[in-house]
Amino acid sequence: MKVIKNLNEAKDSSSLVYGLFNEEQMVKINPEVDEYLSKLMLNDLISSDLGKVTTIHTFDKCQFNKIHIIGLGKRSEYDFDKQAEVFEKVSYKLDRKLTIDVASFAGDLNLEKTAFDLVTAINYNCYAFDQFKSKKQDTSISVNYLISEEYKEVIESAEKISQAIKNTRDLVNLPYNHLNAEKLANYAKELVKRFNSKKVNIKVYNKEEIERLGMNAFLAVNQGSKDEPYLIYIKYNGKDEISEPITLVGKGLTYDTGGYTLKSSMNTMKCDMAGAATVLGVLEAVLSNNLPINLNIVIAATDNRISGEAYLPDDIITAMNKKTIEVVSTDAEGRLTLADALTFAQQEGSKHIIDIATLTGAVVVALGNYTTGVFGNDQEMINRFLEASKKAGESAWQLPITNDIRKQVRSSKVADLTNSTGRNMGASSAAAFLEEFIEEGTKWIHLDIAGTAFDQNKSGGTGVMVKSVYNYLKSLV
Ligand code: BES
Ligand code: MG
Ligand code: ZN
Repeated sequence: MKVIKNLNEAKDSSSLVYGLFNEEQMVKINPEVDEYLSKLMLNDLISSDLGKVTTIHTFDKCQFNKIHIIGLGKRSEYDFDKQAEVFEKVSYKLDRKLTIDVASFAGDLNLEKTAFDLVTAINYNCYAFDQFKSKKQDTSISVNYLISEEYKEVIESAEKISQAIKNTRDLVNLPYNHLNAEKLANYAKELVKRFNSKKVNIKVYNKEEIERLGMNAFLAVNQGSKDEPYLIYIKYNGKDEISEPITLVGKGLTYDTGGYTLKSSMNTMKCDMAGAATVLGVLEAVLSNNLPINLNIVIAATDNRISGEAYLPDDIITAMNKKTIEVVSTDAEGRLTLADALTFAQQEGSKHIIDIATLTGAVVVALGNYTTGVFGNDQEMINRFLEASKKAGESAWQLPITNDIRKQVRSSKVADLTNSTGRNMGASSAAAFLEEFIEEGTKWIHLDIAGTAFDQNKSGGTGVMVKSVYNYLKSLV
């Protein structure tokens, strides 16, 4: 990646990429080719329809072997959604060595956001999870961003965030036999070590220590596992030692079989630690960009499976905050691990929490695979988050926690709470359950990414919400 001020600096590049509106009569690249391209345009050989890519071979008429003209449609109708569609076309598939005229893709839209979104889109498009394939798919690319000097920092920041998203995707894609709780904890340790800063510290609690903390809901989920659970706790004092931290809690189920309430189809459930991967991705983005905030990360990591030791439906467990829970379904395990993780976060002094979890199939039914479910107890915080996600170009939608569903969560005949209510409002009932572990005075939002974190038909892990949560944190600075 290189930021360049003019095309003379692009000697190493074989392709130029340029965005063209319907209204443009002329491509303004360089006198040698402008006339040639204008003729092609006049003869309708170059299309400016939205998303259309026309590749022109220049036959040595200019320094580039190829010019890719990407149609932007009508300038007056161009918005960030259309721009995102256009950016899907920019990848190694055009060429390995691209020079991109960034301003040509902005139109009347904000150039800074255009530059940021372009960089993250290219990195997103140039991803393959191929570390276990003998024959690798080459997705490498080298890009020159042609843009004025003042946007250099934006582009560099976008590159760092892209790297964090890539790592998030890789983590989500790792299957259980390559990523159990211990390995996830080791990954977190390595990540912290890499930044080699006194401002960031990690503590990983083992089973004995988790027992001493009284995290019995978390431990119940781990009971059937052959692997020990780990509680991952990271503190970053990017601001100072005294300000209250914001805490990100990530669901860290390295595999979810459902337990004795066995899933009839459990394929892709390696993705059940996507919340954990996301909060680690946000941490990486925060550290590499030196965001001046106090940020804590909490992950209760385990898998959920069957053995002679496994917890059973009907079990009654006492969570860390002493509330008792009737286990109606061992497959509603995420909320059990999160319950104790939320209690832990608050005991550590956090009154401002975001949890991120692949929590319910119901959120997929409600919102599908491209919209994340948002819940919370503080409308101002929710609004701020929705604004941040909009800016990130990640679709998110608020769903309610109603008194009716709260009542159902409290309707167990034998314990304070039930971990599973009926079929209706499943995403809300999970959120209402989590809310039981949020203390008076704590601001909290819950992101259900069960539908959005993993795309089976594409590259698996999506890294969804890294950008949104990062934007949210940035908005607090
Ligand atoms: N990990 C699943 C949720 C999930 C579903 C993640 C689809 C990714 C894609 C979660 O632990 C689960 O099993 N939830 C149950 C809850 C139910 C038993 C109350 C569900 O949604 O069916
Ligand atoms: Mg489950
Ligand atoms: Zn799960």
